[in-house]
Amino acid sequence: MEKRLFESFKDCFRLGAAVGGILYDYEGAVKRHEKFLEFIKTHPKPEGMPDFKIPPLPKGPFIESEILAKHFNLVVAENDTKMCNVFPKPNEYDFSSADKFIEMAHKNNQAVRWHTLVWHNQSPKWIFEDEKGNKVSKELLENRLKDYIFTVGNRYAKDVCSVDVVNECISDKNFVLRDGNDHSKWFDIMGPEYVDKAFFWAKQAFPNSSLVINDYNLETMPPKREGMYNLVKGMLGRGVPVDTVGLQMHINLENPPVSEIEKTIELFGSLGLKVIVTEMDVSVYKDFQPGKESEPRKEYTPEVLQAQAERYKQIFDCFKKEADKGILQDVVLWGITDRFSWKNDFPVPGRTDAPLLFDINGKPKPAFYEICR
Ligand code: GLA
Repeated sequence: MEKRLFESFKDCFRLGAAVGGILYDYEGAVKRHEKFLEFIKTHPKPEGMPDFKIPPLPKGPFIESEILAKHFNLVVAENDTKMCNVFPKPNEYDFSSADKFIEMAHKNNQAVRWHTLVWHNQSPKWIFEDEKGNKVSKELLENRLKDYIFTVGNRYAKDVCSVDVVNECISDKNFVLRDGNDHSKWFDIMGPEYVDKAFFWAKQAFPNSSLVINDYNLETMPPKREGMYNLVKGMLGRGVPVDTVGLQMHINLENPPVSEIEKTIELFGSLGLKVIVTEMDVSVYKDFQPGKESEPRKEYTPEVLQAQAERYKQIFDCFKKEADKGILQDVVLWGITDRFSWKNDFPVPGRTDAPLLFDINGKPKPAFYEICR
């Protein structure tokens, strides 16, 4: 019988996967899909974003449910625990999908991460506006955020081991806190202290969960890593209860080198913080450079899949080492099989990718066998 993947790491870290609502709340997923189609009809796409084809929702049964239950001991919801879904209207919470997600995790005996409390994306538009559609006051936004954090904590604190309190707050332009000109209405209205405040409230609302600040490209962009380092060092100095840095790690076959991953984990470890990998996938394409010609769709030949397997192996060896040092706590993959990966169609519309451990039919790939030992 095939071994259970998470057991290979049981003395090192939990192994997690991000799960889409179609696996635990099909009806809810259909509703959200329709709402999303409506949304993109009425909203022009942000500047610089490519055109996406939105495929129809697939119908079950889903082999992913079996794989998830068997191979992973930690889960995170891809979308259903984001603010736009949990707090869609003023004074109106919708826990229907989040409840089903938690129920599934309990049934599978899996630990749960909450993703995410504060993010400049996928926040409901109303939260930043008053009844007339004008920008809300700082005080009102603070009250709304506080109410949200406490309401969610009150319902789910007992269920979640770890919470992404703030997501993607470091700017790619100047590597300090992303401000209003860089899409963060939280910063724009509440000022830079929104990050500290969110962590203080989260500590009260989720007293027993680890509190994470999560971002992308920390292992690929040294100045961004330094920006995050300065931010969390300052937070610790101010007594802010951040305890973990989340590395998203949407990476690829070539970049970043393992040495940079190791350096990043150890840098945050040197501050006494823990590190978790929150959204890992390993694209089979090279870095995407906006404005430059993108790599065309490639065949997933045995050589490509073997190169990917070796890459996963080297990175997981590094993870094990960092877990032995007491720094790395969890590793979460952003998806289960290649067929539902967000990297299909992104960043290049019409191009599929194969970044995960199971192929489009749910068959384990060479990367699976390489790390499942
Ligand atoms: C970011 C977010 C995730 C998810 C992925 C893409 O990394 O943190 O919630 O939206 O992008 O799917």
